[in-house]
Amino acid sequence: MGYEEYKGSDWGKSLPVPSVQELVRNDPHSLPERYIQLHTDRPLDTDMAMAPSSSDIPILDFALLAKGDHDETRKLDLACKEWGFFQIINHGVAEEVLLKMKAAIAAFFELPLEEKNKYVQAGNDFQGYGQGYVASEEQKLDWCDVLFLITLPHEIRNLKYWADTIPGFKDAIERYSKEAQKVAEEICANISLLMGMDKDGLQRSYGKTKQAMRMNYYPPCSRPDLVLGINHHSDPDIITLLLQDDEIPGLQIKHKEEWILVKPIHNAIVVNVGDVMEILSNGMYKSIEHRATTNESKARLSLATFMFPYDELEMGPMECAVDEHRPRMYGNMKYLDYLRYTLGRKMEGKAHLDNTLKIKTSSS
Ligand code: OGA
Ligand code: NI
Repeated sequence: MGYEEYKGSDWGKSLPVPSVQELVRNDPHSLPERYIQLHTDRPLDTDMAMAPSSSDIPILDFALLAKGDHDETRKLDLACKEWGFFQIINHGVAEEVLLKMKAAIAAFFELPLEEKNKYVQAGNDFQGYGQGYVASEEQKLDWCDVLFLITLPHEIRNLKYWADTIPGFKDAIERYSKEAQKVAEEICANISLLMGMDKDGLQRSYGKTKQAMRMNYYPPCSRPDLVLGINHHSDPDIITLLLQDDEIPGLQIKHKEEWILVKPIHNAIVVNVGDVMEILSNGMYKSIEHRATTNESKARLSLATFMFPYDELEMGPMECAVDEHRPRMYGNMKYLDYLRYTLGRKMEGKAHLDNTLKIKTSSS
């Protein structure tokens, strides 16, 4: 996550690191020390056929949800409480829109390095071509190159990072961005109802939102057992929609202390609850740690679309989520301060949520 307001701040600077795609292109066996994860973080099993079953990760029919189907709404409630992740089918986003979006990402990463470098992250900016946020020289690096763009609202887009030399690139994002926003809003409206409010209750709390897209390119790796495509983290947003490759698995979520693979379903969208939602719901809905692994033979592409509030939002548990059975679990904090803290402590999983906002009880 990140955005252009970080410009000029002393903490928001992401250190430049080389393109992993180029590293692999120059030497398929190269594996610099900075990418080798600590033992505790290494993927235990990169043989996807052997990964723990993902058959329990809820699959929701979005069309039923949008109609207010009772069973589907209950499923959403359980999915957000027990998994923090689910996949949606029948989401109404045309296959053509998904295919064009995926093709646009593929086309971007296929550009020669010097072309991609025209869109490289500038100075303290998070947008553009580069890597995920790199806070220190010691930090372990992801086996991943990224193009990060703010996509909504229109007026805050920074078009200098949009690869307009690729035919259809802008149009693909334009169309998918609009559809993704509709889907994200519909899910939030349903969560609002589940929390006992009207459809707009949550929206009134988080206010205006921005949308950003993180386009991930995970090159193949000669030792997928030693690296991570993206290290474990939770998303510091309200809700995330993830498009993953139909054929190449990689996304894993932490469920009951185990890493579980989210098996790709053709044309489905993976949805996850973000930190902001967890806080607003007073911990009822969970923002779950997740990560991506790599493989030896094929590059994997994915697209995370984040919906997040404006900097000024003063966030804390909503009144309807606090009662004698569920005492207030988080203090209030400005979204920008939260983000600052989160990014500064990058790569410590979800520890930031516990350290910044969680109200300490005597037993913890
Ligand atoms: C992300 C993310 C997972 C994936 O970009 O925030 O979690 O499978 N990506 O690419
Ligand atoms: Ni994520």
